[in-house]
Amino acid sequence: MFKLTRMATIGLLLASTLAVAQTPYTDDATYQGLGGKEGIHKIVDSFLTIVLADPRIKDNFADFDIAQLKVRLAQQLCEFAGGPCKYTGQYRDKTMDGVGTVRDMKTVHQDLQITNAMFNALTEDLQIAMEQHQVPSGVALKLVAKLAPMQRDIVTK
Ligand code: HEM
Repeated sequence: MFKLTRMATIGLLLASTLAVAQTPYTDDATYQGLGGKEGIHKIVDSFLTIVLADPRIKDNFADFDIAQLKVRLAQQLCEFAGGPCKYTGQYRDKTMDGVGTVRDMKTVHQDLQITNAMFNALTEDLQIAMEQHQVPSGVALKLVAKLAPMQRDIVTK
């Protein structure tokens, strides 16, 4: 066995973009490997701390509701890891009351001018957060590969 570096993982991520269907796992091994809901919440907390300090991407998050983003991200990562959660895509702008409009990932990110380099930076930050929480590298790689197909929707520049 060999340990994949983050760069190698990103390469694999790009290579797998077309190969991996954007569907949750049918078993919950990845979810368990992340430490379940509690583990995912800790990872998301660390992830956002790293993102908000990352000069490559932090400015993109300046005007957004980070607490809400954490909740949504945790929901989504849990679902994609095969856990008992459902990301609804229901988006509530912080200036709104109530439930708000339903937006998909493409719509959420379309005005953010996101490049491949920014997408890779964010993926790297997620991997650092998972390393901080001792997620096994095989589990981390599976989650990253699962998110890879989103690049098509999220990168617009
Ligand atoms: C695999 C990559 C990504 C995933 C899985 C992802 C996931 C998400 C999710 C689940 C939300 C919450 C949407 C909601 O409120 O319902 C969100 C919002 C957001 N994402 Fe991403 N994202 C990714 C890449 C990026 C990148 C590369 C950037 C910028 C560098 C970015 C910037 C943002 C911002 C600023 C918001 C808040 C938008 C708003 O509240 O209107 N995302 N993302």
